Amino acid sequence: MTFFFFTGIRISFLGSSDMGIVSVQVVLRRVGMKMIAPLLLFCHVISGLPGEHDIATPSWTSTDGQPSLVHTEASSVSLNERETSNLRLPRSLKPLHYSLRLQPFINGNFSILGYVEVEMEVLEPTSNITLHMADIITKNDTAKLLALEEEANREVMIRSQQYDPARQFYVVHLSEFLQKGRTYLLSVEYRAYLSDQLRGFYRSTYTDVDGSKRNLATTHFQPTDARRAFPCFDEPALKATFEVHLARETWMTSLSNMPLAETRPVEGQEGWVWDRFERSVPMSTYLVAFVVSDFVFVKSTEHDRVLFRVWARRQAIDAAHSAREVGPKVMRFFEEFLGTSYPLAKQDMIAVPDFSAGAMENWGLMTYRESILLDDPNTSTLGEKAVMVQTISHELAHNWFGNLVTAAWWNDIWLNEGFATYMAFLGTDFAEPTWKVMETTVIENLQKVFQLDSLQSSHRMSIPVSHSDEIDEIFDMITYTKGAMIIRMMEHYLDKATFQKGLSSYLNSLKYESATQNDLWEHLSVAASEGGTLPEGVTVKDIMDAWTLQAGYPVVHVMRTSDGSSATVTKKRFLIEDINGDYGWWVPLTCTTQSEANFNQTRAVVWMKDSEAQIRLSSLPPKDQWVIFNLQQTGYYRVNYDDHNWGLLIQQLKDDHKAIHPINRAQIIDDAMNLARAGQLSYGIALGVFAYLRNETEYLPWTAAVRNLNFMLKASNEFDALKDFMSDLVLPLYEAFAFDDGDGDSPLEKKNREIVRKWACGLGNKDCMDKALTLFRQWMLNPDNFSTIPPSVLCNGIKKGDEAAWNFTWRQYLKTDVASQKPIFLRALACTTDSLIRSRFLHMVVDEDGDIRQHDVWKVLSAIGGSLTWNYLTLHWNDMFTYKKSYRGEVMKAIISDVAPEQVEQFLSNKTTDMSGNHLAIQQVRETIRSNIAWKESYYEVVARWLKDNGYSS
Ligand SMILES: *[C@@H]1O[C@H](CO)[C@@H](O)[C@H](O)[C@H]1NC(C)=O
Ligand SMILES: *[C@@H]1O[C@H](CO)[C@@H](O)[C@H](O)[C@H]1NC(C)=O
Ligand SMILES: *[C@@H]1O[C@H](CO)[C@@H](O)[C@H](O)[C@H]1NC(C)=O
Ligand SMILES: *[C@@H]1O[C@H](CO)[C@@H](O)[C@H](O)[C@H]1NC(C)=O
Ligand SMILES: [Zn+2]
Repeated sequence: MTFFFFTGIRISFLGSSDMGIVSVQVVLRRVGMKMIAPLLLFCHVISGLPGEHDIATPSWTSTDGQPSLVHTEASSVSLNERETSNLRLPRSLKPLHYSLRLQPFINGNFSILGYVEVEMEVLEPTSNITLHMADIITKNDTAKLLALEEEANREVMIRSQQYDPARQFYVVHLSEFLQKGRTYLLSVEYRAYLSDQLRGFYRSTYTDVDGSKRNLATTHFQPTDARRAFPCFDEPALKATFEVHLARETWMTSLSNMPLAETRPVEGQEGWVWDRFERSVPMSTYLVAFVVSDFVFVKSTEHDRVLFRVWARRQAIDAAHSAREVGPKVMRFFEEFLGTSYPLAKQDMIAVPDFSAGAMENWGLMTYRESILLDDPNTSTLGEKAVMVQTISHELAHNWFGNLVTAAWWNDIWLNEGFATYMAFLGTDFAEPTWKVMETTVIENLQKVFQLDSLQSSHRMSIPVSHSDEIDEIFDMITYTKGAMIIRMMEHYLDKATFQKGLSSYLNSLKYESATQNDLWEHLSVAASEGGTLPEGVTVKDIMDAWTLQAGYPVVHVMRTSDGSSATVTKKRFLIEDINGDYGWWVPLTCTTQSEANFNQTRAVVWMKDSEAQIRLSSLPPKDQWVIFNLQQTGYYRVNYDDHNWGLLIQQLKDDHKAIHPINRAQIIDDAMNLARAGQLSYGIALGVFAYLRNETEYLPWTAAVRNLNFMLKASNEFDALKDFMSDLVLPLYEAFAFDDGDGDSPLEKKNREIVRKWACGLGNKDCMDKALTLFRQWMLNPDNFSTIPPSVLCNGIKKGDEAAWNFTWRQYLKTDVASQKPIFLRALACTTDSLIRSRFLHMVVDEDGDIRQHDVWKVLSAIGGSLTWNYLTLHWNDMFTYKKSYRGEVMKAIISDVAPEQVEQFLSNKTTDMSGNHLAIQQVRETIRSNIAWKESYYEVVARWLKDNGYSS
């Protein structure tokens, strides 16, 4: 699944102060996704003072200054205290095969007539059959159990049927014990419902060219919603084969994981047919998918064994061509890289108008949010294209990591999501080498997850979970991004060939089965010992358990002796709120020196073992030459140095920064600033590093720099001296770079220019603001010319423009049929600083009959922010996002800096606040608030003094 992380999407130069109180009364009819009775909301609105609500950049370019983090309750055991031990299915039965027949009344009352047959093998004698089920009513008198393999398939008596809503169990009690080793067939008819909750078998709608509303039915099952479509053993390790039958009206089309086998009339129902699909390969329930729609497709036969089809509603199909090109290309790359072929005959990808996640890897039938899959080459920007390619690559990678070999339980879901995320970087780099994702990912992803993972309330990658709410919660940045970055570290310390060999062996020997992380370690260890890439006697498990079974990451401190030639190296957990703990890691050390300056050597030269608190290194250069550790930041750790070495680095950056690899320039900036924030390095040194930025023109270091400066601006509310300092760093670049993109600019130059525009305009540079406004006005005169308008310009135009500008942009949002443009307009609309428009917009966002799709609501709320949104969120908290509670936590994380800490605490400590699905988020919110306050108390003055000494005063 592709998930979006929206924490900190806004760059705010101003923090939270609620000035000028305007009371607005808004009548809200939609609470999140759910209709309830009309409610009144009285809001205090932030006034139109210069609270810069800057837009989000597309997620691949996110340069946000994410608030950071920090502290308390150890979350390493279980996400909450709930009794969770009995939530798993009994192990007595193993499903072998399902046959499903579903007739959804898409154009009627949305009911579904269902029939399921499940064949199972008895592992332990049992007198009941326990399956998962939710939102389903069984027709009890149709339930039937047959003992197979006996003559004439004897029928076994069913004593009673029971439903346990707390555990979502459907239990069939039998009058006898089922025999170990035998197989049985349970069948039952049932009724279900196409919900509007974007999960299970659900309905989605769109408006046709002639203005009529059209319905379709589609599925989203991961992690625990297959049970809403049919009773099943809904755990990932309980794989089975599936034969799906879907009834549809003849003018519609149905799709499932496998190719269509045959179509027959539905007896007695004119205009209806049954589609039967081929029997599937063995797979997990969460990967089953069905779609019934009136969509059309484009296909590609570029892959010689696999038919690729991209499906969309008829008017949007022209935008499916890029996906059709990228898909087969990336699939072939993965097949070669992993030494394993894709086992199915077809790969469908479908653009669904309402879709809660970004995309879902259902085997053979991937579902995507329309705005991600479809891409109009005439109007789409680089950012949109990047999201598309990366998402397609991510989902295709799941064909191996997740679909073929599946994490046995959700605690190891990083085996699916971390790999899909990492492989997506490789796939994207193959498809679009000029984007340099292998470099940008370090700054955009690793440095970002470092923020979250420096909180005590971060969590281990492999974490015990059992309740659906807990399972939902760990589809987060730790699982995806830290997972990917830990895998990147392995690829580098094992070397690429060993890594590939180990993966190929893991996939081939466990195909159609499930795996734990120990399985992965084992296959990689065998490859490493054959390749001789690890120290004698050390296994991958020895090294990796510490990275996946404990939260956080280390900081390595390199202290050179006075002659420079040797160093003491120590390590400890890096936490923003520094607390000592007993943590050990195996750390691969890599380094280079001033005279070598070779940043390519990313295999460990020295391993610092988990038990070693301190080691000694020799053969370092004399003291007038710097050393740099963690080359290209391939290791998942920070590095600190003695002050003398920091001084040498600062000097090198001033003299000739290009001598240092751009990733390491960004690393030096990010490490220095975060070390200073955690009290482990002086701000004098950290800000000293910044001075060279006047000469820096590259995207990677700038991204790291603005993220860190933005943190200080946010945490301090108002910091004019810092803004002046920032202006002095950015403006030379603005002048050198100019405002407009040139045709020959590389993707990274374009991305960097967007940062520069955003900050130059945001900091009030007149030339920038004039140009942005002129461009915005030109766009208003010629709105079809959308692709030339950078998101920062749209945002700026809304911020500085009047109501007419806002209304115009809103009309463009309504008018465009290019789904990928809609989120861009929505984010821009949220940039308004006019309190009346903001409250009107909020009203439109949450209006259930309004023009904003359910799946966009939480992101737009995050982007609007302010106490207005806070009031709405907290008032409706308990009913919001019932289909995915973790989203409300995401919204809260994104907007907490807009409200007073006491207000947040008051809400969080209120006993009536439902915290399910948000336990991690709540801890992270508290820790973030605490650390921001602590930063202001401890360091605001320090930074102000440094700025003053360097000629900047507030
Ligand atoms: C069903 O049988 C299993 C043993 O196979 C047992 O653990 C479980 O408690 C039974 N469930 C119910 C509801 O009786
Ligand atoms: C029918 O089965 C359901 C479980 O699906 C159970 O809750 C209900 O009590 C049963 N009704 C009767 C009359 O047995
Ligand atoms: C490092 O690798 C890059 C890209 O592969 C290459 O251009 C460069 O010459 C290498 N540098 C050294 C010092 O080997
Ligand atoms: C910029 O680079 C030049 C040399 O190219 C150097 O003289 C100057 O000190 C640098 N400025 C900063 C602020 O680092
Ligand atoms: Zn995924």
